Amino acid sequence: MDVPRHVAIILDGNGRWAKAKGRPRNYGHVQGSKNVETICEEAWKMGIKYLTVYAFSTENWNRPKEEVNAIMTILRDYMKTCLKTAEKNDMKVRVIGDITRLDRDIQDRIVQLEEDSKDHGGLNFTIAINYGSRDEITRAVRKLAGDCKDGVVDPEAISEETISSYLDTHGIPDPDLLIRTSGEMRLSNFLLWQLAYTEFYFTEVPWPDFTKEELERAIRQYNARDRRYGE
Ligand code: IPE
Ligand code: IPE
Ligand code: MG
Repeated sequence: MDVPRHVAIILDGNGRWAKAKGRPRNYGHVQGSKNVETICEEAWKMGIKYLTVYAFSTENWNRPKEEVNAIMTILRDYMKTCLKTAEKNDMKVRVIGDITRLDRDIQDRIVQLEEDSKDHGGLNFTIAINYGSRDEITRAVRKLAGDCKDGVVDPEAISEETISSYLDTHGIPDPDLLIRTSGEMRLSNFLLWQLAYTEFYFTEVPWPDFTKEELERAIRQYNARDRRYGE
């Protein structure tokens, strides 16, 4: 099986998955975060080099306060678990998004996780937290405009590569395959610039039920398309 180098996933359907089981939405988020751990390991075993997941969007702050707080608690715990997993699996972790809006202690854990794992040679795992593509592009443009004003960048010399290098994803290749679970067919403000040529795969399966077999199915479909239109 020809494995895509970079797979990005919009983790969706935690709430509906829990509701279908008669459980609170937050239970879905707990199971969803556990599944992230599993899929990281499986992705690496399959030969995927880059995995990027959308965990919390800039729009998700509009959810009920209680749910936002529960998700933040899960993220806080997750950062701790991830530190151990990154060590064990030699995973290099990066967080994209505007982390300055997160609680101080979560920010500290993110910095520690990135620092501790920066020399690892295994899976390049990127987590999007308080991420929105329009926000990312806005921050990038603001910084680029500042650099032009300071004479660091010549506006005439700005290329697509320049813009990519100002985005949170600088240095990470664009995704080859985007997966969105749980039936919605929209991007919800995820990686708008980076997904320009990416193949999309949508499945009805909610994120907590998304297994290794589901990932393989997505890759098989990606391969079938690759053969049809491939280079
Ligand atoms: C995805 O699951 C997780 C986050 C966005 C934090 P949802 O919480 O969106 O679950 P549904 O879509 O309501 O089922
Ligand atoms: C997208 O899921 C964001 C994340 C997975 C973090 P949502 O469930 O928040 O998206 P919408 O609101 O249905 O577009
Ligand atoms: Mg959703």
